[in-house]
Amino acid sequence: MHIMPGLVARKQRLVIGNWKMNGSLAQNASLLDGLRAYPGGACDLAVCVPYPYLAQAAYGLHNTAFGFGAQDVSQHDQGAYTGDVSAAMLADMGCQWVLVGHSERRQHHAETDQQVANKAQAALNAGLTPVVCVGETLAEQSAGHTLGVVARQLAPVLALGADAVNQLVVAYEPVWAIGTGKTATPQQAQDVHAAIRASLDSVGAGQVRILYGGSVNAGNAASLFAMPDIDGALVGGASLQASEFLAIAAA
Ligand code: PGA
Repeated sequence: MHIMPGLVARKQRLVIGNWKMNGSLAQNASLLDGLRAYPGGACDLAVCVPYPYLAQAAYGLHNTAFGFGAQDVSQHDQGAYTGDVSAAMLADMGCQWVLVGHSERRQHHAETDQQVANKAQAALNAGLTPVVCVGETLAEQSAGHTLGVVARQLAPVLALGADAVNQLVVAYEPVWAIGTGKTATPQQAQDVHAAIRASLDSVGAGQVRILYGGSVNAGNAASLFAMPDIDGALVGGASLQASEFLAIAAA
């Protein structure tokens, strides 16, 4: 069945904080305190924290509206992969979520589209929800290659098949908007989200949630969330302040 984007019932919104390589035990404690104050609402919430702080997040977010997870995962199950962390280990720590293919991993660790898809599959095998990040660089955008880049990045993920794809989340994060204060306009983001929606739909996964990421803050979240194919946000810098992050969740 072909479902027209925008005509389907809205999916539960999802807002995920990506702490990146920030924090300390003391800083996290006050951030988690702030998050615990959230009364809950019609929105799924999670934070993806550095590995050493997973236990702190598990403890600090226990019995709250927040899930938690990691920012990367190995594509391998176990063994001689020094420094890597498996999906089973993340599940063991109580994670529900894991980012895969964040542009900073693709850029600094040369992760390929196929490795990202492998990581998504490894996460699914362990019962985690992978958040597959895609997005074009400024040069690619300027050259008019946005949709081609996103399609190339998604291809090996879509090849995992409908059962797998229906269990993941996609995050569109234009690299030029990450940490720059330069957000895509709601219409720019919507256009890419609609193309992603169509490709998900083509493998029978048109209901998958598609998050926008890149300089999302309390001031621009509502206009992004108003777009028919933007189902939430992946938030970096603004997730490091509880009040700002909760204002995005409430937008
Ligand atoms: P930003 O980061 O919100 O600081 O732009 C988003 C991300 O990289 O996930």
